[in-house]
Amino acid sequence: MMETVLGAIVGYLLGSIPVGFLLVRWKKNIDIRTVGSGNIGATNVTRVLGKPWGISVAIFDMAKGGALVLLCKHLLGMDPMALTVIGIASVLGHNFPVRLRFKGGKGVSTTYGVLFALCPLGALLSGAVWYVTMRVTKYVSVASMFSVSLAPLFMKLLGAHSYYVYGGAILALLVIIRHRSNIRNLMEGKELKVGNKR
Ligand code: G3P
Repeated sequence: MMETVLGAIVGYLLGSIPVGFLLVRWKKNIDIRTVGSGNIGATNVTRVLGKPWGISVAIFDMAKGGALVLLCKHLLGMDPMALTVIGIASVLGHNFPVRLRFKGGKGVSTTYGVLFALCPLGALLSGAVWYVTMRVTKYVSVASMFSVSLAPLFMKLLGAHSYYVYGGAILALLVIIRHRSNIRNLMEGKELKVGNKR
């Protein structure tokens, strides 16, 4: 129990490193929350700094979610419930970082990092769905919500531990909740498509 709590605290703290926010402030001296969609994640960093930086942020945000869970799983041999709790804590750290007064991101990349650590094949399948949906619809938000929502189903079909499936479902719910503004924009026809800055 103690190691789960400790792991969750470390997960939250790692997750709360606002990589996109720090990078844009460093490169352009602006607050990314005031431009584009206002999100601190890879999609908005791509709008502000271009694709290579956006991809770098996605990788860092995935790593800050996935690395700790992988370490706890393979080096410390922690149980599925602990790993699920730690993974969710990392995403909560990204979404609600203390440093940004709890106004963080939407958690998609960090969720993918956690899903990969819990069930690699499930995450890869979900990632493939993300890519196809993004190419077809041109909306990253639609691709994110749709693909992450399918992750628990993929995990279940692949025989992943039930805690991972429940964890995947909680993460999918979190992703959808954090995309409320995107859902509103989609309904009003105002959602930014890939390549559109405003
Ligand atoms: O990963 C976040 C993405 O799904 C939406 O980002 O900036 O268009 O709100 P954004």
